[in-house]
Amino acid sequence: MIDRALELKAAPYSSDALARRAVALIFQRPSTRTRVSFEAGIAELGGHPMTLRAEETQLTRGESVRDTAHVLSRHVAAIGIRTGDHGFAEELARYATVPVINMLTAEHHPCQALADLMTLREALGSLEGATVAYVGDGNNVARSLAVLGAIAGVRVRIAAPSGYQLEPVSGAELTDDPRAAVTGADAIYTDVWVSMNDDPQSAAARRRALAPYRLDDALLDLARPGAVALHCLPAHPGEEITAEVLYGPRQRIWEQAENRRHAQKALLELLTSA
Ligand code: CP
Ligand code: NVA
Repeated sequence: MIDRALELKAAPYSSDALARRAVALIFQRPSTRTRVSFEAGIAELGGHPMTLRAEETQLTRGESVRDTAHVLSRHVAAIGIRTGDHGFAEELARYATVPVINMLTAEHHPCQALADLMTLREALGSLEGATVAYVGDGNNVARSLAVLGAIAGVRVRIAAPSGYQLEPVSGAELTDDPRAAVTGADAIYTDVWVSMNDDPQSAAARRRALAPYRLDDALLDLARPGAVALHCLPAHPGEEITAEVLYGPRQRIWEQAENRRHAQKALLELLTSA
């Protein structure tokens, strides 16, 4: 998929994989990048993106996920879902007869991880032997990075404080020491300290616990020379990442945001080809 994503990036209008077909994108949570990159990518593939805000559908009036899946499957080539409840996405996938794409749940963000590995591949030339160090909250983005890293043969180290660490995931190396995690790494990755599905009441405690995990130039200096900084965005400069890194010469963050579109086009092509 990364090979194909790179081809599509070089020739964005070369595929009509979704010609005259619609893709439903259900949002139960806010989004900037995911919505825009899916809508633009589906249009580039010749398809019609149909964004549905969950609160504007009959789901809010008690129609079941099962019935929603049955009906949408009669109209569209694929369904994307962003929700807090991972079980909701799984139930949709169980009853839909078209592919269902996770556009972020509280537990996973696989489309982000696909774009992350694509960005790493572009930055390094190859994923072989690559090490990425994620510092901060062991959240959905960290979990998907660990899962996809294991599939792609990328070494993923995750540095998070006690209480914010991922459960042991295949392949990921877990530590609470950010300096140890980033030493010699090819990329340092961070994400917000308070995610959209976290209890807002926990924000102050999270910021206190995660403060030593900020991605700044000093941390980046410990990585291997030429290492890049990644962030899935939205960022909070001065919190999990400094403005110097976010807008500095070592980041690949804006490229990473663009790569969402190319990576998702490769995914849509794969899932909707008969
Ligand atoms: N990175 C990401 O998924 O961004 P949005 O929440 O804006 O979609
Ligand atoms: N971990 C963040 C990612 C946002 C794209 C969240 O879930 O809010």
